[in-house]
Amino acid sequence: MKENFYITTPIYYPNDVPHIGHAYTTIAADIIARWNKLQDKDVFFLVGTDDHGKKIADTAQKAGKTPKQFTDDMIPEFKSAWEKLNINYDKFIRTTDTHHEKIVQEVLQKCFDNGDIYKGEYEGLYCTGCEAYFTEKDLEDGCCPIHKKPIENLKEETYFFKLSKYQKPLLKFYKDNPTFLSPKHRSKEIINRVKEGLRDLSISRNSFDWGVPLPFDKSHVAYVWFDALFNYYSATREKGKEGFWPTDLHIVGKDIYWFHTVYWPAFLMSAGIELPKQVYAHGWWTLDKEKISKSRGRVVSIDELTEIAGLDSARYFLFREASFGEDGDFSKEALIDRHNNELANKLGNLISRTSALAEKYGIEKVENALLKKLKLKKIEKHFDKFRIDKALSEIFTFIDHCNEFIQHQKPWETHDKKVLYQLVESIRQIAKLLSPFIPDSAEKIQKIFKTDKIKKAPVLFNKIEVSKPNLNKSEEPRQIMEGITTINFEDFAKLDLRIAEITNAENIEGADKLYKLTLDVGELGRRTICAGIKEFYKAEDLKDKKIIIIANLAPRKLRGIESQGMLLAASTKDKKTVSLVSPDQDIAPGSTVG
Ligand code: MSP
Repeated sequence: MKENFYITTPIYYPNDVPHIGHAYTTIAADIIARWNKLQDKDVFFLVGTDDHGKKIADTAQKAGKTPKQFTDDMIPEFKSAWEKLNINYDKFIRTTDTHHEKIVQEVLQKCFDNGDIYKGEYEGLYCTGCEAYFTEKDLEDGCCPIHKKPIENLKEETYFFKLSKYQKPLLKFYKDNPTFLSPKHRSKEIINRVKEGLRDLSISRNSFDWGVPLPFDKSHVAYVWFDALFNYYSATREKGKEGFWPTDLHIVGKDIYWFHTVYWPAFLMSAGIELPKQVYAHGWWTLDKEKISKSRGRVVSIDELTEIAGLDSARYFLFREASFGEDGDFSKEALIDRHNNELANKLGNLISRTSALAEKYGIEKVENALLKKLKLKKIEKHFDKFRIDKALSEIFTFIDHCNEFIQHQKPWETHDKKVLYQLVESIRQIAKLLSPFIPDSAEKIQKIFKTDKIKKAPVLFNKIEVSKPNLNKSEEPRQIMEGITTINFEDFAKLDLRIAEITNAENIEGADKLYKLTLDVGELGRRTICAGIKEFYKAEDLKDKKIIIIANLAPRKLRGIESQGMLLAASTKDKKTVSLVSPDQDIAPGSTVG
């Protein structure tokens, strides 16, 4: 019997076509689903749309269509977007599916029968853009903090859900299931807010009818979030899918974490349904450092995203550029840069050199010393914890090893078939590991190296020409500012400052001020640095600490050890206090500082 793995994306509002933000969540889920398929699990990967609610009703009205007609017309846009992004989903659910509507009514009835739903009147604030209730203190200048638009004052008869009753059960659940709220650093905010107290939640509207009617009062429709969240459950109430409940992983953006980690488990507790195992929130993308906003034309469409350097380069970029769980900034230049330097140069060159040499000289089986450098266990561990950016970075560290190996062994001079065998085998592994991220390219690589009769590979990633601005032009004359010599920006830009994680701190024989530090610098691999901080830190306190280093300083020998960089530390004038400079958030090793 295969192990089940059930993964979902949020179901998006089909009020508009999807963009890079929706693509990001969906590709993340696709990568994780593909990885679990590779692990031979029985995977169920669900996507869909959130068709009901006031937001859709209003948009449809503006378009002169019924909400049903409007959403029916939008669905092909979503399906074709997921096809363009190579999303290998198993089911596309819509909240207007009759089967889903039936299940929503069934759970509403259950919650009602056990006394968790009662009639009352809601008077308060509501943002239709968010489809969410707000209080005065949430607002910014009287506007919704997300949509920056004036907020509506609602006053209508409603049914409330007794959310307050679930405060303690939720806190207990978080405690008993510490990975439910993931990544870990996002859990605190939720727990604190729940501790502050929960107010009962309005879960029906009676001023419009675009939704699922309450089974116990047909003049009301269910609140769109109550309806929407149950999509995850109703998809498993189909024949043959029952075994997938509870969900292993809900991937969501940080904006909708609260709905998934507070409302959702509370609704399920009330309906007596087993709870999902994990909700993982990712960060938000900005575009050239500014908020993505459709109305201000600051958005990247699915076509724009894939046309810059091809689909796989876009998929690769999104999970290499930002740590999964943190915010990221999208720019065309950064994508092209990674495409050229990492996919075309590092991966592409490895494939083309190895395939050409293997065609010419052949390969011969031997024990594979190179492959031993592949940290498969580490990659698996990253995947188990859904640290997909770290898994990808680790695969590229191995690609670097392969490139160093070929450079060092020079098989073009030696014609060594054993060297080529080691490279071919390693590439086969690389292709498999990369297949969740860049499925098309990985398949091409697999085909090239499928048998031992290898033929020179065609170019997989064509380099993209970019015209560089003339840096000299912007150079400004040096100035002196009250005792400080200023430098030009270009001088500063020469520094490669990176986040590094200390994995080990050791004493150096005969040196009473120095530690030998081993560092994980993400994509730059492992580093050794000798640092004069022994008087100020115990070795065990340094382990796992994240610091900032200058990564491109020429190496220097200290006490016979090659120190490959320098760390940043602050010190008082008398040098009695020295403090390492550390980021104040959990940010991935290798991240740039500047
Ligand atoms: N319909 C609800 C979800 C219901 S799930 C039961 C909804 N839909 S949405 O269309 O607004 O999509 C929200 C999701 O889009 C976010 O959670 C996030 O996954 C994604 N993103 C939208 N813009 C984004 C960025 N700029 N960056 C990253 N992801 C963002 O909320």
